[in-house]
Amino acid sequence: MALEQSLAALSLATVTAESATPTKTLVFKPKTAKTAAPVPVVVFALQSTQTPSPHIASAAGVKEPRLAKEDLVQEFFSTTPKEFSVANLNKDLAGKIKIVIDESIFKGDENLVLELSTESAKAALPATTIVEFLKSTGIELIPVDFSAEVAAPAAAAPQKSKKDALKKEKEAAKLDDAKLIGITVDKAKDFSTWYSQVVVKGEMLDYYDVSGCYILRPNSYAVWEEIQNWFNERIKKMGVQNSYFPMFVSSRVLEKEKDHIEGFAPEVAWVTRAGSSELDEHIAIRPTSETVMYPYYSKWIRSHRDLPLKLNQWNSVVRWEFKHPQPFLRTREFLWQEGHTAHLTREAAAEEVDQILDLYSGIYEELLAVPVVKGRKTENEKFAGGDYTTTVEGFIAATGRGIQGATSHHLGTNFSKMFNISVENPDGSDKPRVFAFQNSWGLSTRVIGVMVMTHSDNRGLVLPPRVAQTQAVVIPVGLTSKTTDEARKAINDGAVDIEQRLRAINVRATGDYRDIYSPGWKFADSELKGIPIRLEFGPKDLKEEQVTVVRRDNNAKYVVKLADLESRIPEILEEMQKGLLEKARKDFDEHRVIVEEWKDFVPALNAKNVIVAPWCGVPECEDDIKDSSAKKDNGEDEEVDDKSPSMGAKSLCIPNEQRELKPGQKCVRCDKVAVNWCMFGRSY
Ligand SMILES: *[C@@H]1O[C@H](CO)[C@@H](O)[C@H](O)[C@H]1NC(C)=O
Ligand SMILES: *[C@@H]1O[C@H](CO)[C@@H](O)[C@H](O)[C@H]1NC(C)=O
Ligand SMILES: [Zn+2]
Repeated sequence: MALEQSLAALSLATVTAESATPTKTLVFKPKTAKTAAPVPVVVFALQSTQTPSPHIASAAGVKEPRLAKEDLVQEFFSTTPKEFSVANLNKDLAGKIKIVIDESIFKGDENLVLELSTESAKAALPATTIVEFLKSTGIELIPVDFSAEVAAPAAAAPQKSKKDALKKEKEAAKLDDAKLIGITVDKAKDFSTWYSQVVVKGEMLDYYDVSGCYILRPNSYAVWEEIQNWFNERIKKMGVQNSYFPMFVSSRVLEKEKDHIEGFAPEVAWVTRAGSSELDEHIAIRPTSETVMYPYYSKWIRSHRDLPLKLNQWNSVVRWEFKHPQPFLRTREFLWQEGHTAHLTREAAAEEVDQILDLYSGIYEELLAVPVVKGRKTENEKFAGGDYTTTVEGFIAATGRGIQGATSHHLGTNFSKMFNISVENPDGSDKPRVFAFQNSWGLSTRVIGVMVMTHSDNRGLVLPPRVAQTQAVVIPVGLTSKTTDEARKAINDGAVDIEQRLRAINVRATGDYRDIYSPGWKFADSELKGIPIRLEFGPKDLKEEQVTVVRRDNNAKYVVKLADLESRIPEILEEMQKGLLEKARKDFDEHRVIVEEWKDFVPALNAKNVIVAPWCGVPECEDDIKDSSAKKDNGEDEEVDDKSPSMGAKSLCIPNEQRELKPGQKCVRCDKVAVNWCMFGRSY
């Protein structure tokens, strides 16, 4: 765990070891009563800092710390003193050891880069990264200013006040205790740091050593599986079948549909070598599968009786983007489903486009509790090579930006003409062959990012119950050192029983019976991971035959009689599911504002809204809106980066639900007459 995290951190930090400041990591064993378990103190300091043991003793509140022998280091850290560094620390050590940390590291400036070294390995990491990591372990972290501590015994008064200051600092760290394992920045103040902490600490994903690629851990993959199950069940009812096509495309085939591939070309990754030999023909990795699949549609569709052909695949695609990557939202490889269908008539195809869009909306609203607006993309924003694109558009309230949720395209006959996907005319009329009408539709793991951004808070992830891997955690509470073994057993048994009863009715429940952690620590841990409800079971609950239930999203407390467990818990989970959607819908509704005059447009955007405005439908006007709504303070062309609040507003969609236009209503930007209401916004 520790090593993985530091490796992940390494891949983030591109620093050279040459400029790094050397450090030392030492293990001390304080004097303890023979019967008590030792609590080792790890000292982490700059190599140049002197760390006299009296100061360690006073900081850590221990007696006579001595450098630990090899067997103690082995016992706690499973390594030898020579190979030991802070990278060996992990969550499991929380409560078992203490860390005394050199204040010049703890408070080190942002540019301080440290060298961690053991006998066999070296790594250079920013001090802030290491401190973050140490905080994330939940181990008690005690900062010490070793230089100021070295005071003459005579100077009693200053030393005392110094001690007080130290005590205060420790106190402050303690107050932060629950936070130490958790999120350290405010969602409202530093959204992007908050987001990466939430997804990493909530164990949704981890960073990987290929930039732009991430590991989906069980906590997020489980969400994806729920989506797969929900969607598979429904598309199969529509007659769609799953299949799998290869990830490699020959350049010949990839370039067959020039217009289509043009948009992807700069992002296509190529295989050019096998072992040490150059390949004769370079092979592309699919950025999407139209050109992979359609030659075979042409081969398989021979008669009108072969239509409709409806195939879907769950796969990954690769788009080698150079923009700043962001977990789930912009990654070089991502998971999605892509459906590709061919129909005899335009009407049949158009009907399916809408049905799929309804399913996408269902995934967002029913499963992920994220409200979306259904609509159609403008000519500028539609899928190249298609007739029209429908979309579900979401909204990230914290940043005031829109986000494309998923798209369902009607391709018309452009591709079927290109690939000769044709059948003899069943009418037998003058036209001997007709081309198939095609659709394609896709939804990716980006949905998970939208869900996280929407619901999660400063305590970590909030997962909607319907997609949460673990829906409920049972935690024994109220046990003290005075609790008798008998009472302890009764409470633990009661908790296990609750857990099992829930599992029997298909509530995904677990129990947290780890002795070394306090209930408070466990609460914080389950909140960080987004578990929808926790069930606290203590002596009073045992006596009253009840359990106390706390909801993750709003801290609402419910006392549930054990007799009602099977009926009440699923209800509470559903209440939470509904509550999340309602709250998010309210946010979206309040921040989707009607703007009819251009002077109100940019101020509304800057107030973190998306805008619904009367619009002429002319592509050049859309370009103009985008340019004119971008802030160009520095005269440079604004980079459409995540951190840039200055990007212009794109059209998000022309919503299906249209309010009536006033007679003669003008376009929000130009003098032409408006043809519809269009939703604009800064977007991801
Ligand atoms: C696709 O076909 C439509 C007409 O059906 C045409 O308007 C459009 O330009 C074509 N797009 C491409 C990229 O070939
Ligand atoms: C398309 O395929 C059909 C059936 O194989 C064939 O008869 C026709 O000649 C093909 N058209 C083109 C343009 O290749
Ligand atoms: Zn206009």
